[in-house]
Amino acid sequence: MKKPMDQSRFFDTNAGAYYRTDAGMGTVNELAARHIEEGVSGRVLSVGGLWPRYSLEAASKLDLVVADVSEEMLRPLQEAGLSTVLGDARALSFPDDSFDHVVLPLVLHHITEQSWRAARGEVSKVLGEVGRVLKPGGRVWISEFSVRRPVYWAEAVAAPITKLLLGLMDIPLVVMHTANFYRSVLRREDFSDLASYYPDPPGASWRDPIRPIIGIPWLQVPRAFYPVRPVVLSAKCAG
Ligand SMILES: C[S@@+](CC[C@H](N)C(=O)[O-])C[C@H]1O[C@@H](n2cnc3c(N)ncnc32)[C@H](O)[C@@H]1O
Repeated sequence: MKKPMDQSRFFDTNAGAYYRTDAGMGTVNELAARHIEEGVSGRVLSVGGLWPRYSLEAASKLDLVVADVSEEMLRPLQEAGLSTVLGDARALSFPDDSFDHVVLPLVLHHITEQSWRAARGEVSKVLGEVGRVLKPGGRVWISEFSVRRPVYWAEAVAAPITKLLLGLMDIPLVVMHTANFYRSVLRREDFSDLASYYPDPPGASWRDPIRPIIGIPWLQVPRAFYPVRPVVLSAKCAG
């Protein structure tokens, strides 16, 4: 059987196409970026690249490190003068209590180990690791696409076939979780003071075109066909 493509190879291959488009999420990304930039300060780690539509001016006021498994995804950030490190969100190469804030910008739905069930465990692994590198009282910021519960269960049932179909195009499985799932894992991992921000763009229409699948950049569908709601969750690390 063909080996599924891993995330680093997938994103190395697709980085150019990924950075050429905002997938129809420009305004959402803009709102989420401003929200994150208002909240973070001091020593900041962003894992899974940087938040899209970041402001270089805001980034330059931070002591910022960006980690990612893909060298090609990091390249434009490096070229912009940002500090980058190659690494996996589940095994970060930083000592305990290193950061004031950790941002996870649109990365958690990609860490799936090719199964809906395993993806849930991977979220715990990442947040455990984030809790380790955060200073006591530091904050995690999760920018994600959330789904409603019926969509979540439909994803679970469809995951084997979704994986098969995506696999034919060398695209790894993604799993969008509910916002409540993220909240429950945060509480289990000892985070508190949970806050949620929904970057819903004013005047958005169900007809607005979006590109839902990285790896198929020509596929464009009306927003209504892609039942996700962007959310930025944040929470405080036990201290
Ligand atoms: C959808 S892209 C988001 C990139 C950037 N944050 C943005 O929103 O424009 C997901 C990113 O997560 C990275 N990634 C996937 N799995 C990862 C892992 N286990 N650890 C760290 N980064 C990972 C990919 O290489 C890719 O850069």
